[in-house]
Amino acid sequence: MCGIVGAIADRDVVPLLIDGLKRLEYRGYDSAGLAVVDGEVRRVRRTGRVAEMEAAAQAEGFRAALGIGHTRWATHGGVTESNAHPHISHGEIALVHNGIIENHEQQRERLRALGYAFESQTDTEVIAHLIHHYRSQGDDLLAALQRAVRELDGAYALAVVDKREPGRLVAARMGCPLLVGLGEGENFVASDVSAIVSVTRRVIYLEEGDTAEVTRQGVRIFDAEGRPAQREVHVSDVSLASLELGPYRHFMQKEIHEQPRAIADTIEAVVDAGGFSPALFGADAQALLRDVDRVQILACGTSHYAGLVARYWIEAIAGIPCAVDIASEYRYRKVVADPRQLVVTISQSGETLDTMEALKYAKSLGHAKTLAICNVPESAIPRASALVFYTRAGAEIGVASTKAFTTQLVALFALAGTLARLRGALTEAQQAEYLEALRHLPGSVQHALNLEPQIVAWAERFATKEHALFLGRGVHYPIALEGALKLKEISYIHAEAYPAGELKHGPLALVDSEMPVVVIAPNDSLLEKVKSNIQEVRARGGEMFVFADADSHFGESEGVHVIRTPRHVGVLSPVVHAIPVQLLAYHAALARGTDVDKPRNLAKSVTVE
Ligand code: F6R
Repeated sequence: MCGIVGAIADRDVVPLLIDGLKRLEYRGYDSAGLAVVDGEVRRVRRTGRVAEMEAAAQAEGFRAALGIGHTRWATHGGVTESNAHPHISHGEIALVHNGIIENHEQQRERLRALGYAFESQTDTEVIAHLIHHYRSQGDDLLAALQRAVRELDGAYALAVVDKREPGRLVAARMGCPLLVGLGEGENFVASDVSAIVSVTRRVIYLEEGDTAEVTRQGVRIFDAEGRPAQREVHVSDVSLASLELGPYRHFMQKEIHEQPRAIADTIEAVVDAGGFSPALFGADAQALLRDVDRVQILACGTSHYAGLVARYWIEAIAGIPCAVDIASEYRYRKVVADPRQLVVTISQSGETLDTMEALKYAKSLGHAKTLAICNVPESAIPRASALVFYTRAGAEIGVASTKAFTTQLVALFALAGTLARLRGALTEAQQAEYLEALRHLPGSVQHALNLEPQIVAWAERFATKEHALFLGRGVHYPIALEGALKLKEISYIHAEAYPAGELKHGPLALVDSEMPVVVIAPNDSLLEKVKSNIQEVRARGGEMFVFADADSHFGESEGVHVIRTPRHVGVLSPVVHAIPVQLLAYHAALARGTDVDKPRNLAKSVTVE
């Protein structure tokens, strides 16, 4: 969603800010802006792409040693230049903000009564005026920020500059990520390490309620009570290569093709731990996982579908009941607490607000056994969890999740195996068999990627359709859900997924020759049932596109097209079958000419409710 970058240096920071904003583009945004302090506060804002804002900044000759930049994903107020950040108060204070201020209406009324005029419809502008108000009462910039944030309800990451204090920028964090980057004689703030990785890898993650003063020489951090605080310096290992497109046309295409490596890297953690071992999940895992008697999974979107696959594994392999909830539903449900339940959150970004709030709710009910499966080190959700498994997918830039999903599945499979082992439900022979399946997984995924030319041919036919149905059964039903989600979010073709057995209870009414029906049909115990469901569709004139492995013995016939997926890969089959549905969505979107990496209205990490 929104992105922040700020810098103070002895050189012109405008190119650094623009570069940082470009690196944040993947998060999804609809306007961009920057403000610099150069004797006065100068600002440029544009709706649309960072490149348009960059051209305007160049045309107006922006140069300065202190500045802040922002990419905005509209929440309060439409996509207009006047709603874009930075917001300025009285030509002195400039501010960028991620998050949502819930009491902005009350603050606006109060500030209006004090004589402040508002130029935008945003919740953010009140913060700029509030800081200005305290500044005009004699506070310096840091003190004014600290006073202002005490009066805000909601979530924020803030970076602020003041024309009267050109030697520093100040920052604050509550509920939205913000970090300080440490350079040599220059320092930075950013909402995401990728924004500043070209200038420094040494970062301090601010904690909830922290404020910070950033000068050329150093950084001072204060906790929520305003006391000086020490925070650890981390060296980020985000690779620049993962932030570059290389020979690919889109990040999504690159990330689909990175999956054999990402999966192999994630499996390496399992191999290093000597198999399915609590050590995979953290130092306290043995004690925390030993007496788990139920599992509750919480996540959103694609991560939720990973949870749905995991439910089959956890129940079948470990014999433990497992419930899976959409985080935004769970957090408002009256839940029966069970102290022996393991609460697992799954989140690529580690920032998704609904997942974070669901975790907080579970903890407030007394759930101490919490595990985060996450792809972004030091992000908020793992930091709030007792146990963590970091997937090793590398930075995922495309808005549509691909390699994060398949590596989450590997992590969840390892969790099922570990829980089974702790309960004595897994023999050495079974463990060896599952580890062998894992070892073959990157190869099978590569075989699935090799199907791309056949999938391109299908995608071209899909591109002319407005609707599609996806069917699967059992552990492959969540893959049908994932296929439908991928297709709709990047190609804008309306797609629905159903367990194939559910078809005749309603959705069959939709089937006609204009409705392509995709079926995930590997050779598993439900194959014969799926074959009958296919007949039901064929009899109504529906055109079938079937992903079936070589052992499924599916023949092509009039209106039934088949792509053969790699030979039966057993229990890990959902991971392999995720690949063709990703490719189908990607190529359908390509054929329709949509913005694959930045689909309309969507953002990479969803930090609002
Ligand atoms: C879809 C997609 C989203 C995310 C969802 C949760 O391709 O990427 O549905 O899966 O927004 O995000 P995380 O996993 O970051 O919590």
